[in-house]
Amino acid sequence: MSAKAPTARLDKLLANLGYGSRREIAGLARAGRIVLDGAALADAGARIAVTPDLPTRLAVDGAGIDPPPGLALMLHKPLGVTCSHKEAGPLVYGLLPERWHRRDPALSTVGRLDKETSGLLLLTDDGGLLHRIIAPKANVAKRYRVTLDRPLKGDEDAILAAGTLMLEDDDKPLLPVGFSAEDATHATVTLHEGRYHQVRRMFAAMGNHVTALHRDRIGGLALPADLPAGAYRVMDAADVANVFSAA
Ligand code: URA
Repeated sequence: MSAKAPTARLDKLLANLGYGSRREIAGLARAGRIVLDGAALADAGARIAVTPDLPTRLAVDGAGIDPPPGLALMLHKPLGVTCSHKEAGPLVYGLLPERWHRRDPALSTVGRLDKETSGLLLLTDDGGLLHRIIAPKANVAKRYRVTLDRPLKGDEDAILAAGTLMLEDDDKPLLPVGFSAEDATHATVTLHEGRYHQVRRMFAAMGNHVTALHRDRIGGLALPADLPAGAYRVMDAADVANVFSAA
């Protein structure tokens, strides 16, 4: 038997998607500006089934509505934007449509990338999904491309694999880190935990300095080659499953 879709009042659903107050939604409905399955829906208090395909069935002013709650996005984070709701300067949320800033539940980043790190960043309004991705027992690996200031010494692989490297101010050693040298000053690392500024601090602890950092994979989900910096894409069920599959 297929699971029944949850239902929601039209005015509450659209207000929570940022289309206006419930009173404003009622006005839109009375004016015939809300259409469900091809017919104007005048009653803003009507309950409707919230199915994933709702944006193809429910329109406001002729445009399909935004994705309903349960939204997950992959974003190609550019350099120079911050993963925060409230810091000064450009924020990752500024890369999303303006109406999405008023969504309830709000979108949050799944972990963070530094302002000067680029690459794959996930966002979701689904707290359960967020916690499943970051939970240590899920062991979702994160892969980074690293550019270094000084040539690799040759001992990095052994040091990182040992699971004994201590970072300044931390009280326990890092878990083993996957390492692969590309050339003298470029490497790929795969982390199984997420400590503050981990990659930069890790190379600092080995006497080097990271000059550029880019995340290209979370679990088995790769940053799509056709997703330019600053752009995002709504994740489908296969993308979400990929996060939890081994790379
Ligand atoms: N490690 C860092 O140092 N910075 C990031 O943004 C991610 C991992």
